[in-house]
Amino acid sequence: MSDAPRGHGSAAPRREKLAILPSARERRGRLSGRSITLCVTGSIAAYKSVLALRLLQREGARLEVVLSPSAERFVGAATFSGLTGRPVYHEMFDPDVGGELHIDLAARSDLVLIAPATADLIARMAEGRADDLVAAIALCAKCPVLVVPAMHPSMWEHPATRRNIERLVRDARVRLIGPVVGAVASGEVGEGRMAEPEQIVTRIVSELASGALKGRHIVVTAGPTAEDIDPVRFLSNRSSGKMGFALAERAALRGARVTLITGPVSLTTPYEVHRIDVRSATAMRSALWQTLHPTLSNADALIMAAAVADYRPVETHASKLKRNNSQTLTLELKANVDILAEVGRARAGRRPVLVGFALETDSDEQTVASARVKREEKRVDLMVANRADDVLGRDDNRATLISSIGAEVLGELPKLELSDRIIDWIARRFEEGSA
Ligand code: CTP
Repeated sequence: MSDAPRGHGSAAPRREKLAILPSARERRGRLSGRSITLCVTGSIAAYKSVLALRLLQREGARLEVVLSPSAERFVGAATFSGLTGRPVYHEMFDPDVGGELHIDLAARSDLVLIAPATADLIARMAEGRADDLVAAIALCAKCPVLVVPAMHPSMWEHPATRRNIERLVRDARVRLIGPVVGAVASGEVGEGRMAEPEQIVTRIVSELASGALKGRHIVVTAGPTAEDIDPVRFLSNRSSGKMGFALAERAALRGARVTLITGPVSLTTPYEVHRIDVRSATAMRSALWQTLHPTLSNADALIMAAAVADYRPVETHASKLKRNNSQTLTLELKANVDILAEVGRARAGRRPVLVGFALETDSDEQTVASARVKREEKRVDLMVANRADDVLGRDDNRATLISSIGAEVLGELPKLELSDRIIDWIARRFEEGSA
């Protein structure tokens, strides 16, 4: 069946040509050529579905929109048809459209996104009902159906909703995003708030984008290491771990199996990531080798985002060092093994792909120059050069990617987006078959 607009539409799609002509960015987007049916049901969170739609369009996805009758009390059809240049569908049996709309939309979708999904819709889906267009599409879709609940926490916690959700997720097609803990429309705080548009889009990209990372094992190290002087004192650095955690989160979202080996940080483990906590550089080294296997056969890529301490005290005192009125104290330190260089030396072929981070405090030019040297010395494929001021403890990073073919200067980016760029780089290596 043709996917041309079929007559019925709440707002005449006069801007159709304009709206559906993809921009250069949309043609290149990670969802380029993918069709998504966005079903919106009646919740105050429906405004977020407009933002999600824009982000999906920017990734190149082609959108059809279905509004439940109650959704229109929150967001008008004109908004959606204006943005997509396509009719917005409401009715299952509309004489203008014909009787097969639910089957037609489900069949031509690569993914059905139900956002927001109310408690009522979830209940009807769990029952296998098809009493409106949204429920009918969900029932006959063969593609993934992404359900994004939004409701008051008391409704989300209710045993009936719990039971419905349990039934729903047993359906292999259904994936759930959220809800998250936060303030809901009433001002109360609890679990029930709709996931943010960015989170929805990332999940869809992971569901639909190229499968280069599916089944691959990516090992990420993160955070500082702590080198104990005595039971209460240690040497460490200002790394927060955010970069490594962002990398682990993004790799897992794109289908990789991820092991995250982290020094002491206060961050939540990303969804579906296997986390190993360590304290010292020595402990990180042994956890890493155990994970990689001595032959390095157990990983497809290693990303060393950890700020590993270069030195540790020669001696760790068993009890607290006393001041003893001395005016100076000399600590003797000894070098830790450079873990990344050690893996670089041990690697015989092209696997695992090795990514390092070079943290410097010099000028931009000097930072890139030092990172080039470190890339060669440690025998890694990609070195991410960044300056301490631009990165430590922050949510953004300003980095340059240095590989054998040159340097790519990236502007200031959120760490999650920088993670996507690094993971894209690794995915390309897998796709080219060079790893
Ligand atoms: N690294 C490592 N083991 C160490 C020190 C560093 O594996 N003992 C890794 C880091 O995880 C990072 C890369 O090496 O990916 C570069 O770390 P960086 O601290 O920038 O460089 P160093 O080699 O320690 O050099 P310097 O501190 O002299 O700048």
